[in-house]
Amino acid sequence: MRFDIFTLFPEILAGVFDESILKRARQANLLDVAVHDIRAYTTDKHHVTDDYPYAGGGGMIMKPAPIFAAVEAILGCPPSAPVILLTPQGRVFTQTVARELVRHPRVALICGHYEGVDERVREHLVTDEISIGDYVLTGGEIPAMAIVDAVARLLPGVLGDPAAAANDSHATGLLEGPHYTRPAEFRGWRVPEVLLSGNHGEVLKWRRHEALRRTWLRRPDLIAAADLSEADRAFLAELARAAETQ
Ligand code: ADE
Repeated sequence: MRFDIFTLFPEILAGVFDESILKRARQANLLDVAVHDIRAYTTDKHHVTDDYPYAGGGGMIMKPAPIFAAVEAILGCPPSAPVILLTPQGRVFTQTVARELVRHPRVALICGHYEGVDERVREHLVTDEISIGDYVLTGGEIPAMAIVDAVARLLPGVLGDPAAAANDSHATGLLEGPHYTRPAEFRGWRVPEVLLSGNHGEVLKWRRHEALRRTWLRRPDLIAAADLSEADRAFLAELARAAETQ
């Protein structure tokens, strides 16, 4: 899968795809990330990429011409891939959106900056707008990194264990329960005995219960939307009863 990232600040993105799992994914040709400097597509002497808003109002607006020129130079006209603008006004990025994006062989990300981008970019170039959450960052570079990371780890072969992504927090609709590694006792705190028991069935049941418990405590909104069995519901009812009697 290939990402084309369009930005005024390519240096921010240098390096993040050069470490750890994403680096290996790129070396294995599972992932390709190209960062394009929007400023390189300006045609004026001073390489201006932003300007004052018509009719006043605060802040600067990213000009349409350099953004159109950059995206069309790389992806053609019309662009041959989804073109996503990163903006706090977009639909909120979730694991479901990551799964949707990973189906595309190529995705373009435009990093917004300043007060925003000229509306004609939204209307005539962009095919989707994504926000990584209800807070405002100084630009779309960090959101672009978050999206590439979340999507890349869903590509087959990127994670060492092919089942890992399927069990992640959010992938199942629930948060994952706790994890432990050696030693079995650290400062007097023991790992739950069931994890040392070698009883695979009991371990699976414990993991499911802990995922349900954690989600119920921390993100009850996810419980409402999760795909739950009768046994899951019975366990949740038990949790609720126990909480009431406390
Ligand atoms: N640009 C600024 N804030 C953002 C956000 N929350 N998501 C995506 N792009 C942004």
